[in-house]
Amino acid sequence: MNNGFLGFDASFMLDFVVSALVLIVPVMLYSLYVVKVQKNFVLHRNLQVVLGAILLVAVTAFEVDTQWVHGGWENIVNKSPEAPRLSGEAFSHVQKVLWFHLIFAVSTPLLWGATLFHALRKFPNPPLPSTHSKLHKRLGWLSTIDLVMTSTTGLWFYYAAFIATAV
Ligand code: HEM
Repeated sequence: MNNGFLGFDASFMLDFVVSALVLIVPVMLYSLYVVKVQKNFVLHRNLQVVLGAILLVAVTAFEVDTQWVHGGWENIVNKSPEAPRLSGEAFSHVQKVLWFHLIFAVSTPLLWGATLFHALRKFPNPPLPSTHSKLHKRLGWLSTIDLVMTSTTGLWFYYAAFIATAV
């Protein structure tokens, strides 16, 4: 699919992943409220497992679409090589924003996976605070910050590539 549903000259999967990144953040914050304030450890675990699964499916589908179907992000930004929408300075600015975004976009699933893997193995079932709490809180907050940065810089890329330059 070539065009997205948000009304810009992006792609369906790019619009899908941008929407997922925006929706994931409030769910993540709710999951933290649930564990920190309500001490509902089971709901926290379930929300995090579902979020992890959504993240995995969304990112995999997005990568397959961007790399294999479109042949790279450049072909989504510039759909017709004869009349590129972005070139020169504008293109290299968007490229820089993308590199910055990729620092967080690549590290988030790794950190997320490690946090989830250790939590599921080391907390009792049903989950309760334990000797794993100290490491889990550290990994958990790092994952949260990384996710928020992935989301923020992803929106920045989308804005720079498709909204600021929309005609
Ligand atoms: C990547 C997924 C996860 C993230 C990002 C995450 C994040 C966090 C964070 C930031 C806290 C600390 C809140 C505070 O400062 O008090 C926390 C606490 C906790 N989480 Fe997770 N969590 C994840 C997955 C899980 C899973 C799968 C389980 C259960 C198997 C779990 C069980 C707990 C428990 C029991 C606590 C309370 C620890 C304590 O207060 O001693 N978490 N989580």
